[in-house]
Amino acid sequence: TPSPRRVKTVDAEVSEDPVSIKGWVRTVRKQKTLAFVEVNDGSSMSGIQCVLPFDAIDEATLGEIENLTTGCSVHAIGNIVKSQGGKQSVELSATSLRIVGSCPGETFPLAKKRHSLEYLRTIAHLRPRTNTIAAVARVRSTLAGSIHAFFQDEGFNYVQTPLITASDCEGAGEMFRVTTLDTDNVESLPRAKDDDGNELPGVDYGEDFFGKAAFLTVSGQLGGETHACALGDVYTFGPTFRAENSQTTRHLAEFWMVEPEMAFADLTSAMDNAEAMLKSVVGVALDKCDEDLTFFAKFFDKGLKDRLQKLVSKPFVRLPYRDAIKYLQEEIAKDPSKWQFPDVEFGTDLATEHERWLAEKKFESAVFVYNYPKKIKAFYMRDNDEDGGETVNAMDLLVPGVGELVGGSQREERMDVLVDKMRELDLDEDDYWWYLDLRRFGSVPHSGYGLGFERLVTYVCGIENIRDAIAFPRYPGSAEF
Ligand code: 4AD
Ligand code: MG
Repeated sequence: TPSPRRVKTVDAEVSEDPVSIKGWVRTVRKQKTLAFVEVNDGSSMSGIQCVLPFDAIDEATLGEIENLTTGCSVHAIGNIVKSQGGKQSVELSATSLRIVGSCPGETFPLAKKRHSLEYLRTIAHLRPRTNTIAAVARVRSTLAGSIHAFFQDEGFNYVQTPLITASDCEGAGEMFRVTTLDTDNVESLPRAKDDDGNELPGVDYGEDFFGKAAFLTVSGQLGGETHACALGDVYTFGPTFRAENSQTTRHLAEFWMVEPEMAFADLTSAMDNAEAMLKSVVGVALDKCDEDLTFFAKFFDKGLKDRLQKLVSKPFVRLPYRDAIKYLQEEIAKDPSKWQFPDVEFGTDLATEHERWLAEKKFESAVFVYNYPKKIKAFYMRDNDEDGGETVNAMDLLVPGVGELVGGSQREERMDVLVDKMRELDLDEDDYWWYLDLRRFGSVPHSGYGLGFERLVTYVCGIENIRDAIAFPRYPGSAEF
């Protein structure tokens, strides 16, 4: 007889032929004449209930039932049938079940149900076996796939920019330095070899490996610009790193960023693209991740689905920075004591509480704030000539629950203006010679933005802390796993 077809629980439906299910046991309930074993294979939140009637299963299975514990991995065979009541529409009427890997209840950290998210972070290697973290992982994967699908459908080319770089794109000095191992012990390190396997003498493993100071990138933008200025529309989607010493619920030291860059495009095109992209990918998540989002709505955020639906269907607000300041000043004047940062004026870098008030209270919507003061933004942003030289063509997208989700701008494409700005900021033109070449040779207006991927995951799942939106969060004091 052929071995039964393997079925993922997400695809389980009533069928004539026996099927095989493989996964991890969540709960075991034994009764007089039968046992219920809830098996989760990670493909769905609900997994499948396996019903084992003692008179219908083989000897060996009867023996296995005695040893079943939460967490052990199993292989079950049986027929998928309509469920007699219960939460699910189908269940496995099992004829056989084998333990693949046992799991001692005394030491398994997840033997007991319900753990705080804080505790789960200390067992990041096991936490994807919980409902919450597995659901985050599935939503995250769906979002990543739909982001690629959106840009590919729009004809953008996916480019991979380097993670090791010499340039500080954001100019905020939040870079991790890349060095080799202890240079005093160079002798103990393996020597470099040539193609014939001969050890190379005098190879320097020191700080100068790259010939100059090198860092982990804070953004793929500058590399993205080189390709936009050749391929037209491109995007990157990769890890970025920031040594910002913040212990907040929305900052990571290692996070993924989606960075589209478009040639012959102004700030409005960047906002249009960000809005279309978010509507598309959140729409896909609503569609494909309904079971997981229903779970998040139930346990974390009642209004989640309404908020996501609204994001997909309503136009985003577009608000000049000066107006944002005006609204904030009016609101803060009513009761300054309610605010951690009550002093807001032109030139203020908006704090999360300001961003969230705009998105959650003032507009109850996603809000693009644009035309920020030049002095709080990065060197590459294009001057707004009409605005007394005080603002740049920059935008941030603020969303309820998160605050800043996207940051972008039109880039300064005029050589002379860019060089002047760099001089003002004490940036060395020689370090950026290749970036300036883009302005020297066939310069074009171009624009782009960066979407913080974990912030998107946090937003779509309605969870509080960005540390639960990535498998192995990196933050000050934490690089375990
Ligand atoms: O606003 P940022 O710093 O913009 C840039 O890096 C531009 N070079 C992007 C571009 O125009 N191509 O970062 C972009 C987004 C932020 O809006 C935020 O969502 C996210 O990246 N982000 C972080 N996410 C998690 N942890 C951190 N420490 C983050 N810093 C920024
Ligand atoms: Mg920003």
